Amino acid sequence: MTLDEKIGQLNQMHYEDGAFLEENARKGLVGTVMSITNPIDFNRIQRIAVEESRLGIPLINARDVIHGFKTIFPIPLGQACSFDPDLVEQAARISAIEAAAAGIRWTFAPMVDISQDPRWGRIAEGCGEDPYLTSTLGASMVRGFQGNDLKDPSSIAACAKHFAGYGASESGKDYNSTFIAPNRFRNIYLRPFHSCVNNGVATIMTSFNDNDGIPSTGNKWLVKNILRDEWGYEGVVVTDWNAINEMVTHGYCEDIRSATLKAIDASVDIDMMSRAYIGYIKELIDDGLIDINQIDDAVRRILLLKHSLGLFESPYCDETLKSSVFYAPEHIRTAQKLAEESIVLLKNDATTLPFNSEIKKILVTGPLADAPYEQLGTWVFDGDAKHSITPLTALKDEFGAENIIFEPVLEYSRDTNLDRLKQIKEKAAEADIILAFVGEESILSGEAHSMASLSLQGAQSQLIKELSQTGKPVVMIVMAGRPLTIGDEIALSSAVLYSFAPGTMGGPAIVSTLIGKNNPSGKLPVTFPMTVGQIPIYYNHNNTGRPADGSEVTINDISVGTSQTSLGNKSYYLDFKECLYPFGFGMSYSDFSYSDLCLDKSEYQGNDSIIISFNLKNSSEVPGTEVVQVYIRDIHASLTRPVKELIHFERIAMDANDSKRISFSIPVNKLGYWLGNKYMTEPGKFDIFVGGNSEDCMKTSFQYN
Ligand code: GLC
Repeated sequence: MTLDEKIGQLNQMHYEDGAFLEENARKGLVGTVMSITNPIDFNRIQRIAVEESRLGIPLINARDVIHGFKTIFPIPLGQACSFDPDLVEQAARISAIEAAAAGIRWTFAPMVDISQDPRWGRIAEGCGEDPYLTSTLGASMVRGFQGNDLKDPSSIAACAKHFAGYGASESGKDYNSTFIAPNRFRNIYLRPFHSCVNNGVATIMTSFNDNDGIPSTGNKWLVKNILRDEWGYEGVVVTDWNAINEMVTHGYCEDIRSATLKAIDASVDIDMMSRAYIGYIKELIDDGLIDINQIDDAVRRILLLKHSLGLFESPYCDETLKSSVFYAPEHIRTAQKLAEESIVLLKNDATTLPFNSEIKKILVTGPLADAPYEQLGTWVFDGDAKHSITPLTALKDEFGAENIIFEPVLEYSRDTNLDRLKQIKEKAAEADIILAFVGEESILSGEAHSMASLSLQGAQSQLIKELSQTGKPVVMIVMAGRPLTIGDEIALSSAVLYSFAPGTMGGPAIVSTLIGKNNPSGKLPVTFPMTVGQIPIYYNHNNTGRPADGSEVTINDISVGTSQTSLGNKSYYLDFKECLYPFGFGMSYSDFSYSDLCLDKSEYQGNDSIIISFNLKNSSEVPGTEVVQVYIRDIHASLTRPVKELIHFERIAMDANDSKRISFSIPVNKLGYWLGNKYMTEPGKFDIFVGGNSEDCMKTSFQYN
């Protein structure tokens, strides 16, 4: 390979580069391309690279296939509510099959950024606030996208992103700086990436943020020292969009030439859309600042990826496949199943749900009742809203159109026009129950879409208030890309379902839940704040030297003129002590209870496994699935450790009036944490918790020696 051809492999271009892309493909000056979504177009460009360039090295075509290609699954934050690694893997597998039929063999997913800040629009794209849940589901997505063999034409290379710490963007503003200390970096933000690496993720993408003053794309400690040297990662590292150039904007590099040097020194292989590598590497080599071996290493990793995808033997995609795989019935069924498991029941007064036999006439209202595009959620480019089945459509299918009274009142989530509110009273009079579909348009979350307020937009709150005064039960169903501060609206509702953005089959999934065909099993992957002022808010926080215990005085208890003592002397807010809902929370139509928590020993050592057992009971007539969660607390260690850390979870199916003795075997290495570059489990006392959410748990303790 000539030096130009080597550098060409490091250069990524976009389909919209048009003739310039074709020219570079013909000269062997581009190695990967993004966003070709038609197999015929892809094969045309690939033919130029393979048959007209000197070496005929095939291109890889990449796309953001985040939660589906044509069949759209719930947004990843919604999928995370399922706590169902197998189903999440199936969804990723289907996404890969559909994307590969379009000529795509590389997706920029899974996004495994931990986020404790729902103001950040990209919380929608990840699996929430917990490292263990995100590590588990991120690995599932990698396996699903990549299949059993990357050479399989339906397999696509996955890309764990955004490496790293991006979800800690200060104040939840996207692209903002982060200030993550090294130990916190390893114990919270890097764990999911380590899990993806250990599960064979083919590529990794560097993140936009500068952490403690160093942008990830030029962060040698992060990419070279940890990812490559410590973890032994030999896959391809790609920058995020234009991220090399942005190191100049950050003020980290004087010019693109020095930014190029920083990225190469950090061992970043592919330049996404900066055109920095193709522009400056040659002169940096001539000036002796880059060693040709650094380029050869990058080229080797890229060629190995193309080889593992089988592109040298079969560079072209089958142009006939797409019609048979897009929206295939099995894909649609899986999308509904995952959407059902992603629904979280937050409230159900007097068992409003599931509908009883008296429910005949239903008033359907709210801007998201019939919003086929909005229910798909953020990061959807190729899924067609025409295939969405909305709640309104599904309700008419289930109950007959004549029994559905549809009055949205608001046209879209930011709509403030309440002119049509006056009709709602008489329409409510005809109905047995009211379903209010509220939340966010899909554009209000996702990249660069951070919000300072998490209240319902527009006049949605007024709508809920008016509905609550009709005397009819109101079921509020929320579609959103993030947690919202909807405590007031929840108080006015008889029942609440949170579906996040449920995807193509959101309507049928919600209706099957309303009528009880689906018994909700979803659990929240993020803490819901009562108010924005509590953010960042998350369950796995440190204890501090003055932890609150719930007994503290609150603002309404303080008499006027109270002397200037330090009220409470604890770490809490005078005005809001609780979150709205804790991590792991979710109700069921069943009635689960836990009892008799035991351990097989009181002391463990070496590589023991902890055998934890307990009774799980379903005292209802309704079969259901409970996501059982196991947390630990390392009482004292060389670093202060969180008050709880999720280390295991399982979906347990229970029959009506069922009782089971459940037992888990948990390896003690799950007790460990990172102190510098050492992962260890220190001797000492541990608490272990079991329950159906991160707050209501049984607890016992053990000693690790
Ligand atoms: C975007 C996103 C990244 C995405 C890339 C390519 O800016 O940050 O997640 O994969 O560009 O579209």
